[in-house]
Amino acid sequence: MKPVILDVDTGLDDACALLLAAQHPELDLKAVTCAGGNVGLDDVVINTLTVLDAAGRTDVPVAAGAAAPLIQAVRPAPHIHGVDGLGDLDWPRSARTTDPRHAVELLRDVLRAAAASGELITLIPLAPLTNIALLLRTYPDAAAGLREIVFMGGAAGIGNVTAAAEFNTWADPEAAAIVLAAAGELGVPTTMYGLDVFYDVVVTLEQARTLGGSQSADLARALIEKRSALYQADGATIGDGGAICAVIDPTGLETRAYPVRVELAGSWSRGRTIVDTRDRSADRTSDPQGQAATTVQVATAVDGNRYADLWLSTVGRQHA
Ligand code: BDR
Ligand code: CA
Repeated sequence: MKPVILDVDTGLDDACALLLAAQHPELDLKAVTCAGGNVGLDDVVINTLTVLDAAGRTDVPVAAGAAAPLIQAVRPAPHIHGVDGLGDLDWPRSARTTDPRHAVELLRDVLRAAAASGELITLIPLAPLTNIALLLRTYPDAAAGLREIVFMGGAAGIGNVTAAAEFNTWADPEAAAIVLAAAGELGVPTTMYGLDVFYDVVVTLEQARTLGGSQSADLARALIEKRSALYQADGATIGDGGAICAVIDPTGLETRAYPVRVELAGSWSRGRTIVDTRDRSADRTSDPQGQAATTVQVATAVDGNRYADLWLSTVGRQHA
């Protein structure tokens, strides 16, 4: 089994990701940490516990982390995720409580234990990168417990929340810059599962309506129906869930190694990931200003049907 930690801002598509990560037999979900993003932190936490309950995973520790980005205010997206972040579905809310540790402390503890055991962890951030930046700045030794980082964020092409920037890197650009720099300095292999593939794993309404018979399957169906309705489409992307598929089945994802920087200024481009796709042999990791860029694997294409099937077959599993 592959040990993983998710960092989420649940969020309809974070919920799709959680259902998959919590139930796939090849993943060992060690912990889930929460950051403000799609909704405020309190709703993120309740939504995360609620989804894990539906997946039958009340054993997974969940910790609350950063309520707001490092510098700017939290800017939620109720038009994408509903006022409560879970599509205002009236789904019964979890009564569970969180781990008493701050998210950064839970990450530190699980990663240090992983470093000691040699069972290295794949960290999958699906939210603004605030918690991960705080972790790598405060406890850089914890990176020894990381096998890799596979994060949803950024775009080589166009953005979504602005023409230039994707939501997670737009929400906390400084954190994204810190995480990329730290990954480079600490030697953590990193994959950017960005908008260039994010919308390409789609579950149709017809497929979603085959789901049912367990809490997980009922919730999964409701999530796709809600997202379809919000976008007035015949189906919906599983969004963040695709990054989980990429960890389970990396052969469904094409990537290329490119230097990536995060735009921290700019009138219209703040939060944009500058993916240097220039085809030239010169050193592209430094620039005239001397700012290093970290080379990461940038997702360029995805087998959307394969990943949609993987999601459907996992979240529709029947529990005893
Ligand atoms: C990302 O932002 C959020 O809306 C989603 O949960 C996803 O993580 C897409 O830009
Ligand atoms: Ca998210």
